[in-house]
Amino acid sequence: MSAQGAKDGSAVLRVGLAGAGNIAVQHARGWSTYPARAKIAAIADVDPNRTKLLNDDFAAGEAKTYESTEALIADPDLDVIDICLPHHLHVDAVIAAARAGKAVLCEKPLCTNLADARRIKETLCQTGTVFMSAHNQLFQPSLIEARRLMAGGVIGQPYLIRSIETFQSRAFNPWSADGSSGPKSWGWRSDLAQSGGGELLDTGYHGTYRLLSLAGERPVEVTGLMSRFFQQELKTEDTGMVLVRFASGVVGEILTSWALDVVGGRHFEISGELGALAGSATSLQHQLYTWPEPSTKTFQPVASFTAEIGHFLDVVQRGAPNPAPIDLAARTLQVIKAAYVSANLGQTVTLPEDPTAAPEPRQQPAATAFSVTVPEEVLA
Ligand SMILES: NC(=O)c1ccc[n+]([C@@H]2O[C@H](COP(=O)([O-])OP(=O)(O)OC[C@H]3O[C@@H](n4cnc5c(N)ncnc54)[C@H](O)[C@@H]3O)[C@@H](O)[C@H]2O)c1
Repeated sequence: MSAQGAKDGSAVLRVGLAGAGNIAVQHARGWSTYPARAKIAAIADVDPNRTKLLNDDFAAGEAKTYESTEALIADPDLDVIDICLPHHLHVDAVIAAARAGKAVLCEKPLCTNLADARRIKETLCQTGTVFMSAHNQLFQPSLIEARRLMAGGVIGQPYLIRSIETFQSRAFNPWSADGSSGPKSWGWRSDLAQSGGGELLDTGYHGTYRLLSLAGERPVEVTGLMSRFFQQELKTEDTGMVLVRFASGVVGEILTSWALDVVGGRHFEISGELGALAGSATSLQHQLYTWPEPSTKTFQPVASFTAEIGHFLDVVQRGAPNPAPIDLAARTLQVIKAAYVSANLGQTVTLPEDPTAAPEPRQQPAATAFSVTVPEEVLA
């Protein structure tokens, strides 16, 4: 397809899916929603059974199939590579796809360490690749509406932003009585060489980019606390709590877990100068402090992967703004890495301005408009 065809949306993009597992099914459903704009032309997975299932279900068995990502990326007929692989395979796949001139959509996390994030960024800059990170939760209507209300000033200056991404996973079920529903293996997720981290790097990635999107400014310092409450077979955390101070002094908090949940499926809470907002996937509550009750707006559930893929098509074909470019993906990883470093040191860490640079132990607290120096009398 010509570059012009991609830009003005006149051609059907030919998509190659790298990985045919769990999340690839959601992506395939998304691509299939836009038949006039994109088609799944090829699928690769080391497991040919998975490739076949996806091909039959979403491409009428007509997609080309490969057993390696390298072969998929080398296919000159593809315009887009959609990466749905385990975490440790993201970096090589993104770099190879960019060098092969494909547009790239990549599942979270961007990769497993900041040195690789830098290599990815350098490659994307050199090649001019269209790259979007698959931050599907950005497409939840409650989040979009909350951002709109905040931009309109309805709660005044925000002070606290809490982002929540929690569920109790029974993928490994310690209580299974009859053996029919477990225990199951966590697979590559329990192998740190493949996962690169625990719950925070995995599901917590959503909570982290959601916090960054609500704050809309640079995070400057991070404090992390990791716990393993429930998933004893994991080698690291099943629950992360992360405090983030932003440059203006706004304070963020991420609560993310495979061990526990919160009431009502909340995704975020924002409290500001005039009032507060609270959102779940299908509702947004808004309460000024002078109101006796919140007002509630409800939304139809959204297929967030389908919305994300529709927007990716807009980015590639129509030059739409990219909501999850490389710098935001790297910044998300940097906050998570900072939380791990902080939990290990038992100390707050500072985030460099470069989103691919390593966090550093804090020398002195960030001085912001809202920072407090605790008086000597109080410390005694
Ligand atoms: N956005 C979300 O809500 C969400 C949810 C789940 C997973 N994910 C992300 O999607 C990605 C995949 O996760 P998943 O749950 O689909 O995992 P999965 O294990 O179900 O699927 C991964 C697939 O990759 C294949 N694979 C492994 N090594 C390969 C290789 N060398 N070459 C080609 N194929 C290979 C496996 O056979 C498997 O089919 C991860 O990055 C994960 O974090 C995102």
